[in-house]
Amino acid sequence: MASKGHFFNRKLHSLLGVIPVGIFLVQHLFINHFILYGPESFNAAADFMDSLPLRIFLEVFFIFLPLLYHGIYGLYIAFQAKHNVLNYGYFRNVMFMLQRFTGIFLIIFIAWHVWETRIAAALGTPVNAEMMMAILSSPIMMVFYILGVVAATFHFANGMWSFCVTWGITVGPKAQRISTYVWMGVFAILSIGGILILLEFGKLA
Ligand code: HEM
Repeated sequence: MASKGHFFNRKLHSLLGVIPVGIFLVQHLFINHFILYGPESFNAAADFMDSLPLRIFLEVFFIFLPLLYHGIYGLYIAFQAKHNVLNYGYFRNVMFMLQRFTGIFLIIFIAWHVWETRIAAALGTPVNAEMMMAILSSPIMMVFYILGVVAATFHFANGMWSFCVTWGITVGPKAQRISTYVWMGVFAILSIGGILILLEFGKLA
C-alpha cells in the first residue's frame, strides 16, 4: 500500500511538472521564437528576461529547484514503473513508456543545455543569439537539440494528458479521448515551432 509520503511526493511531482516547469517550457519557447524576426529581436527579448527584478530568486525557486525535484523523483518513478499492456490498451502503454524515456533523455539534454548556456553565462560568456547560432552550426548539436525539443514538448503535452487524469479533470473515456487529441495537437504545434526556431538559428550561423 502506498504511504502518505509517497502519495504527497507523487502529487507534488505531478503539480511541479505543470506549475512551474511546464509553464517555463512554454515561456522559454515563446522567448526563443523571437529569433524568427532576427537576432536583434531575440537579443532584445532575452535581455528583457535577464533584466527582470529578482531574476536569481525566480531562476532558483521557479525553475531550478522544481525541475530538480521533478527530475530526481521522475527518475525514481521511471525505474520503478510497471508497464501494464494487458490492463490498459496498447496506445496508452506506449505513451506511458515514452513519458519515462523522454524524461530520462531530458535529464541529459537539460543538464547539457544548462551547462553550455546558463553556467557559461555565470562564468562570463554572453548568452545571446550569436551563442546559439555558434552551437547550432554543428550538425551533431542541431540533431541533439531537435531531439531535446521534441522530447521536452512531447513529455510536457503527454504529461498534461496524465495530469488531467491524475487531478480528476478528465474522468470518463470520452473526456480522455478528446484530451488525447487536444494535447497531441499542442505537442505538434510546440514541437514544429521549436524545430523551426532551431533551424533558424542554424541558418543564421
Ligand atoms: C522540460 C522539462 C519537463 C517538463 C515540462 C515536465 C512535465 C511533466 C508533466 C506535466 C508531467 C505530468 C504529471 C502527471 O502525470 O500528473 C510529467 C510527468 C513525468 N515526468 Fe516530467 N517534466 C520535465 C522533465 C522531466 C525529467 C527531467 C524527468 C526525469 C526522469 C521527468 C520524469 C517524469 C515522469 C517519470 C513522469 C510520469 C509520472 C507518472 O506517470 O506518474 N520529467 N512531467
